[in-house]
Amino acid sequence: MSVLRTKPIKDVLAQGEADGADERPRLRRRLGALDLTGFGIGIVIGTGIFTLTGIEARDNAGPGVVISFAIGGVVALLAALCYAELASSVPTAGSAYTYAYATMGEIVAWIIGWDLLLEFALGAAVVARGWSGYLAELFNLPAAWFGEEGSVVNLGAIAIVLVLGVIGIVGIRESARVTNLLVLVKVAICVFVVVAGLFFVKAANLTPFIPPAEPASGGEDGIRQPVTQAIFGLEPSVFGFVGVLSAAAVVFFAYTGFEAVANLGEETRKPRRDLPLGLLGTLLVSTVLYIGVSLVVVGMVPYTEIDRGAPIAAAFTSVGAGWAATLVSIAAVAGLTSVILVDLVAMGRIGFAISRDGLIPPSIAKVHPRWGTPYRISGIMTIGVALLAGLLPLSALADLVSIGALCAFVLVSVAVPILRRTRPNLERPFRVPFSPVLPIVSALACLYLMLNLSVETWLRFLAWMLVGGLIYFGYGYRRNRLAVREASRAPQPREPVGS
Ligand code: ALA
Repeated sequence: MSVLRTKPIKDVLAQGEADGADERPRLRRRLGALDLTGFGIGIVIGTGIFTLTGIEARDNAGPGVVISFAIGGVVALLAALCYAELASSVPTAGSAYTYAYATMGEIVAWIIGWDLLLEFALGAAVVARGWSGYLAELFNLPAAWFGEEGSVVNLGAIAIVLVLGVIGIVGIRESARVTNLLVLVKVAICVFVVVAGLFFVKAANLTPFIPPAEPASGGEDGIRQPVTQAIFGLEPSVFGFVGVLSAAAVVFFAYTGFEAVANLGEETRKPRRDLPLGLLGTLLVSTVLYIGVSLVVVGMVPYTEIDRGAPIAAAFTSVGAGWAATLVSIAAVAGLTSVILVDLVAMGRIGFAISRDGLIPPSIAKVHPRWGTPYRISGIMTIGVALLAGLLPLSALADLVSIGALCAFVLVSVAVPILRRTRPNLERPFRVPFSPVLPIVSALACLYLMLNLSVETWLRFLAWMLVGGLIYFGYGYRRNRLAVREASRAPQPREPVGS
């Protein structure tokens, strides 16, 4: 038995089809391209644009943060093109996990599946804490139950995870309706911010666009420093083009999540056409909005005075338009709500795909007869996320979400040329242009951004992977469907198999 065994593509394709050829549980096809774009924008536009713009403009890039958002958008777009090719040729609930299973082998698939669970589960928990804090601010709720100061149990975070978890379980159409509504609110307000903000932009605030580099004032050393800095012993500096690049690594967080669209492959009516539309549509809308919003913010306020906590709202308050600040807070709450919902939906689909393959117990891969959703695995994981969000102050862990996403992007990019070589005749409704150059550039760009994250984030990520390794070798390696099938086909062994 091999940790590098691959799953035949015909198996992957058969499991999503409703022709009765495969007895495994399957999800219902209820979504179209607009729903997919709604889910994508729902999970992408969230805390990133509402908070990171201020911190990075002020500490690292000045007005050049606009370029950082553009760089982040281009890297995300490259990865999205790779996702679009794989998702349109092999539409499944497992996305990157399943692509890896079909191309690079079981252990790589497990690593990526385990990594995606981290990204989406932790993403939901981190954002739920932020959501609760925003709510406390809007309605003056006690910090002990809704904030971070002196809080033991964060009731707000638990409540929002449970409510959205139930919506996610009750149906994919219901989830799509709620998400589309929230997306409409936040996109409308982002467009408003850009249009209204343009009236207050002063050219003087935008020069110099990239402030000259200067030595960092300290604080970012030891395990807090980026891996690149630790490896090459670079002198920490801020601003200049290097500052713009390191800000790009941080604001990349704002683009993470679009890949959740690929997890809806088995619930999409015309996945081959609509998955690429959903993935690329999400990124185009988000990139344009991010560049517009960040340009307006750095144009309204000198970068040295930008607010670190709530940069967009504060920019409007500073020009005497305080009412706009309230609108921005509403957009932020709507934004965070949809991020949590789509995180929970995507997390359930990956867990479903992994357990259907038997890498975790297959009994939890049951699909609800009426709702058509993977209710068992989604229910169990939602309770886990609610406890995590309720009991632990997680804001420091946001970078783990980025490293999780970037790791998936690297492997998905690499999977494109591998699948082209191993399955040249597979029908590919969408093809990445200039393969293998573009997928390789995509993988390297994502790897570069990963290396710009801190040593601390890498250590936490490796610890999570170690736990995953124990589960795989303790259970999945022997018990999964391919292993069981292989064992039953093998001639009766003289010695015990699999030792
Ligand atoms: N991209 C999501 C956000 O910015 C995770 O909140």
